[in-house]
Parts: sequence; C-alpha cells; structure tokens
Amino acid sequence: MNSNDDSAIAAGLDPTRLPYHVAIIMDGNGRWAKKRMLNRVRGHEKGAEAVRIAVRTSRELGIAALTLYAFSTENWQRPKTEINALMTLLKRFLKSEKKEMLEHNIRLNAIGEIERLPGSVREILQEIMQVTKNNSGLLLNLALSYGGRSEIVRMVQQLSESAAAGKIRPESIDEETVSAHLYTRDIPDPDLLIRTGGEMRISNFLLWQIAYAELHITNTLWPDFNRAEYVKILKDYQGRDRRFGKV
Ligand code: IPE
Ligand code: IPE
Ligand code: MG
Repeated sequence: MNSNDDSAIAAGLDPTRLPYHVAIIMDGNGRWAKKRMLNRVRGHEKGAEAVRIAVRTSRELGIAALTLYAFSTENWQRPKTEINALMTLLKRFLKSEKKEMLEHNIRLNAIGEIERLPGSVREILQEIMQVTKNNSGLLLNLALSYGGRSEIVRMVQQLSESAAAGKIRPESIDEETVSAHLYTRDIPDPDLLIRTGGEMRISNFLLWQIAYAELHITNTLWPDFNRAEYVKILKDYQGRDRRFGKV
C-alpha cells in the first residue's frame, strides 16, 4: 500500500474508488471579500491559498488529475484592474509553487486560449510545464482564458480543415475524434465537478467533457474551501451510484 492510500484511508475514503479526475469551478472570491468590506482582489488573494490546499489535498489522497477553472473567456469582460490583479496573482502563484510541483512530482498543464494571456504569465507557465512534463504524480490542469464553446469551435475548425484537405472523411468522425481535438485530449473526462459559491450553473466550463460527471455544488465561497470540505465531498461522491444510463 502506498502513502496516498494511507492518507485516503485515514480520511475515511476508499482509495480504490476515488474520482480519477476532479474539476473545480472556484467561485465566490468577490463575495468573500464583499462580506468583509474588502476589495475583490483580496478575495482572489485568499482564493490562491485555497488553490494550494486543493492541490495538496488532491496529491496526498491520490487523485490523478485536478482541473481548476481559474479564468474564463467571459472573465476578460471584467474591469481591467481586476484582470491585471488576477494575472499578477497567477504569476505569483506559479512562481511560488514551482518548487512544490517539482518536489511532489506534479505535472502542470494549461487549457484555454493561452495565447491571450500576458507574455510574462505565458513564460512562467511554459517554463513550469516544460520542467514538470515528465512528472508522474498529480496532473494539475489550469483552465486559463478557457471557454467550453470556444474549445468546441476550435475543434470544429480543425476537423473541417482536415476534411476539406481530404485528410479525414466526415463520416469517420466519432466521439473519440471529437475528444481528441479538445484541449483535454490526453485527460479522461472529469468524474466529479465541484462548484463553490452556490451558483447552479456551468458557466461555459468543460461542456463536452462533463457529460457524465457527478455534480457537487456547495455554498462555501472559494476562499473558505478547505481539506475537510473536500474530503466530505469525496465521501459523498463515493456514495453515489453512477449508472451511465444503464440499470
Ligand atoms: C471566482 O470568484 C474567481 C474568478 C472568476 C476569477 P469571483 O470573482 O467570480 O467571485 P464572485 O462570484 O464575484 O463572488
Ligand atoms: C466561473 O465563475 C469562472 C471561474 C471560476 C473562473 P464566474 O463568476 O465567472 O461565473 P458566473 O459569472 O457566475 O457565471
Ligand atoms: Mg463568480
């Protein structure tokens, strides 16, 4: 038995039935700040600490992949000052976590319109993805300037180009082909989708990939998300009956 299994068992979880891939819509930073009469940016700062907790807990319990919705294509419509603060925080987070990722065998990946991010963010992102690319532990997948619809449009463009060039036959396109042309091509679909902040919506996240994900929405605001709640959600997941349309 490995140390991940020990951690999972100590937390009251069945290590053989953990979700392989957990995806989280990290929402509620602004409301967390507002409740305290603070600037929204303070909420994002506190939210970065919750990200560290979620990553560490995933790694310790033996979750294979964690996708975090950090910035959506729609979030570009926020005030420039907030966008700048988020980009600065992201850079700071990446710089400070590089060592942790290397030490703990974490592989960093990013999905979304990465080309839209500021150059300095792209640089550190690419650097860490490069130095962690052979790591075999937790896959930390950051959704940055990510939108599910834009991802689908991109896939349609790629496939129609290939078809127009005579490289593929339209009738040969199947679900596997579609999956293989999404940003998440190398990652199995999420088993569990968590949303903090209580909103009952998907907000353009992983539209294709969550077809059969178990959903868990908690009213907890993202900066208050902690290990105990994460474990509770995983326990709840282990009690679900995933039928996939069968009886
Ligand atoms: C989530 O928190 C972080 C991002 C979307 C970047 P919000 O900033 O959306 O917080 P609320 O929803 O306004 O509370
Ligand atoms: C979803 O949160 C996006 C991220 C968590 C990055 P939003 O706050 O942007 O979503 P809406 O506006 O409530 O749908
Ligand atoms: Mg929000």
